[in-house]
Amino acid sequence: MPEPPPVVVRGGRVVAGGRARRADVVLIGGVVAAIGPDVAVPPGAVVLDAGGCLVSPGLVDLHAHLRQPGHEEAETLASGCRAAALGGFTAIVAMPNTDPPIDSAAVVEEVRALAAGQPCEVLVAGAITVGRRGERLAPLRELAALGVRLFTDDGAGVQDGGLLLRALEYARGLPVVLAEHCEDAAIAGGGCMHEGAWSARLGLPGVPAAAEEAMLARDLALVAEAGAPMHFLHLSTRGSIGLLAAARARGLPVTAEVTPHHLALTDAAVQGYDPVFKVNPPLRPEADVDALRRALAEGTVDAVATDHAPHPPEAKDRPFEEAPPGMLGLETALSVTVTALSGQLRPEQVLARMTEAPAAIARVSPAWRPRAAAQGGPLVVGAAAHLCVFDPAATWTVDPGALASRSANTPFAGRTLTGRVRHTVYAGTPVVVDAELVG
Ligand code: DOR
Repeated sequence: MPEPPPVVVRGGRVVAGGRARRADVVLIGGVVAAIGPDVAVPPGAVVLDAGGCLVSPGLVDLHAHLRQPGHEEAETLASGCRAAALGGFTAIVAMPNTDPPIDSAAVVEEVRALAAGQPCEVLVAGAITVGRRGERLAPLRELAALGVRLFTDDGAGVQDGGLLLRALEYARGLPVVLAEHCEDAAIAGGGCMHEGAWSARLGLPGVPAAAEEAMLARDLALVAEAGAPMHFLHLSTRGSIGLLAAARARGLPVTAEVTPHHLALTDAAVQGYDPVFKVNPPLRPEADVDALRRALAEGTVDAVATDHAPHPPEAKDRPFEEAPPGMLGLETALSVTVTALSGQLRPEQVLARMTEAPAAIARVSPAWRPRAAAQGGPLVVGAAAHLCVFDPAATWTVDPGALASRSANTPFAGRTLTGRVRHTVYAGTPVVVDAELVG
């Protein structure tokens, strides 16, 4: 491939370690060549205006359902990566609950082939168990040797604690992390929304908070037993935050994410029975939302991850109880999170939780890769040229029909959001300019 022309990102404030300072950024040959006030523009450079904007490392998403292979009617690698680029992401973890699931070298290679040439990096996650059936372990060592760094049966938790303990013992010797969707299926009992005042009023079967908290408590005991790291996906209850905080205080090697939708919406949104608000784990009451926001602000929770879960209209437009759970997330994540956390975190602090923190968990940060190939920043000379330029003052109204995703199931349809990704640069090439995809 020919080398992209130099790029100068001019007039913005560069984010580092949760702070921002005025500087221009010059990108040459896929790496950051210079950072500083009023840099010289190299001949032939593309100049991107970043006036009023924050210039961040490209965002990293730990949790995107790209649906390929098997459910191309919902999303493809191509459409999902375009959505990611518009959302400011330059790396996304592709979840393995595809059809067939990503539990073998062949499917890892198939997804990687589809990811080639897309406008962001795709980090392929593997299943913990064969077929995500929770019965026997997937070939973790073989997949780790191929470069898979995150394993999960997401969509479901690993119900058999003995099996998960064996997986953790295997993982201990590998440069990987197991990621759990904490949901005890027996306690969840087939519920379709949070069990509480709203489920009682609406007459819908509920999922008690204990379905998440019981599995989290079990897993924390298993982490202590095995001494292997574990990441907790989409935590959603106040009780989970308490368990996590106690585990961290004991020094257990655990990390956690929350989603933009759990930070922004409550279970009251279900009152119109619109399946666009059905998601797993379910939307929770205000007290839980408050606890998640505080945990993210204080650092008990490390990262924001989208749980981007596209479903086509023919699947979603069903009675609430029958519709599949899941919401789009990639294109709205940063705006929604910045808005939900306003007053508690500055945008540059939100950016740290969507760049350096998830990059470290996904094992793509400079601690795990050479700097010129790493994701999540920091933006220093020699770093990979992956950037997100975010205008915190811009407003935009979410039009589901205008999203790049193949699906339209956003819970933020018609909402006016504050803050918008203006430009995204991936591997030195502008892939989004002025909020429009290039090419
Ligand atoms: O709401 C959800 N949808 N939660 C999950 O864990 C899986 C996801 C999906 O794949 O649709």
